[in-house]
Amino acid sequence: MHIPFSILCLPLLIFILGACQPQKEFTFPAHFPPPIIPDRNPMTEPGINLGKRLFFDTNLSNSGRISCASCHLPSHSFADSIPLSLGDKGLILDRHTPTLINLAWMPELFWDGGAKNLESSIFAPLTHTKEMNMSLHQITSRLNQGVSYLKQFKATFGTDSVYSAYIARALAQYLRTLIAANSPFDQYFLTKDSTFLSTKAFQGYLLFQKHCQACHPPPLFTDNQYHNIGLNKTFPPNNEGIYQGRFRISLDSTDIGKFKTPTLRNIARTAPYMHDGRFTTLEEVLQHYSHQVQSSATLDPFFFQNKTNSPRIELSPSEQEAIIAFLNTLTEQ
Ligand code: HEC
Ligand code: HEC
Repeated sequence: MHIPFSILCLPLLIFILGACQPQKEFTFPAHFPPPIIPDRNPMTEPGINLGKRLFFDTNLSNSGRISCASCHLPSHSFADSIPLSLGDKGLILDRHTPTLINLAWMPELFWDGGAKNLESSIFAPLTHTKEMNMSLHQITSRLNQGVSYLKQFKATFGTDSVYSAYIARALAQYLRTLIAANSPFDQYFLTKDSTFLSTKAFQGYLLFQKHCQACHPPPLFTDNQYHNIGLNKTFPPNNEGIYQGRFRISLDSTDIGKFKTPTLRNIARTAPYMHDGRFTTLEEVLQHYSHQVQSSATLDPFFFQNKTNSPRIELSPSEQEAIIAFLNTLTEQ
């Protein structure tokens, strides 16, 4: 995760601070589409630094014991290494903690797309009783107590007090810098030189294009859409409808059991897999696609493209191995 900067004077900052301070502009990978950055929250170096500080600060949780990074582990590409994380009160969450890479390109957040932008998505973990268990008032009054945050918020946003909207903005700026775009696959993608991939991984890439790319297209390896890939047969309305996936938000019955397609970048580091963290290895994931797809009314039609009657993606053991070799090339060194 490389953060290149170049010199630029941001008009908005000039307006707020009333002075033109040289700012370094954050640059995004050229082979990715344009990132989604709201006009009201441009990327600035102080904003990114403040967001990083907040991300690792356990003071943002009620007990003072956990930070964002307690569930989103930097060593695991900002996903959790266990199926379901434990929150501030030691309660088990209902869904797996996903990676936070490449969120600058994600139009809707959470497994069911329940948040429309990164800034607003941040209030959920802060205030959920099972996660950090804070009220926004509690957080702002805690951070307002010491001079250190006050100074940093003032220098960053020109505000005299810590407001929750600025906490969200700073965290969102930091999250947009968590980029994975420099894997062996990218070397191949940018040069078309197939020697960057092993023979087996290249064979896997061809299979991937046929069987997986419809939902996991490069360069982001997600279509940012919702699909039911046949993990379950039934979708109980328990726990605020959390097992029903996208339906919980859209209330459209054709969305029952659909979840947002996760990126496959850094996939070797983000195990366990799926919205409930049920699979420990990529071998298990491939076994699922080739043998365990469950039928239900909303199962994605993609799984019916085979000669047999049972929905699945037909892949021999050696084809599965080749796809896994390819998936491993999506992980940064
Ligand atoms: C107790 C564990 C836990 C903590 C602490 C936590 N998260 Fe999360 N995070 C999760 C889980 C679980 C999800 C998935 C929730 C869902 O989709 O229903 C998630 C999802 C997200 C997403 C959406 C990602 C996507 O791909 O849609 C963002 C953004 C996020 N968290 C940011 C944060 C930030 C910022 C903090 C700190 C303020 C934080 N999280 C703290 C567990 C946690
Ligand atoms: C019809 C769309 C679709 C197709 C085709 C598809 N996927 Fe997925 N994939 C998804 C969705 C949606 C999820 C998340 C499902 C969930 O958790 O409920 C997912 C999850 C995954 C995961 C787990 C990622 C994580 O971080 O948890 C892996 C790995 C994966 N797919 C690889 C593949 C491979 C390899 C293929 C081809 C053999 C493939 N997918 C074909 C939509 C698809």
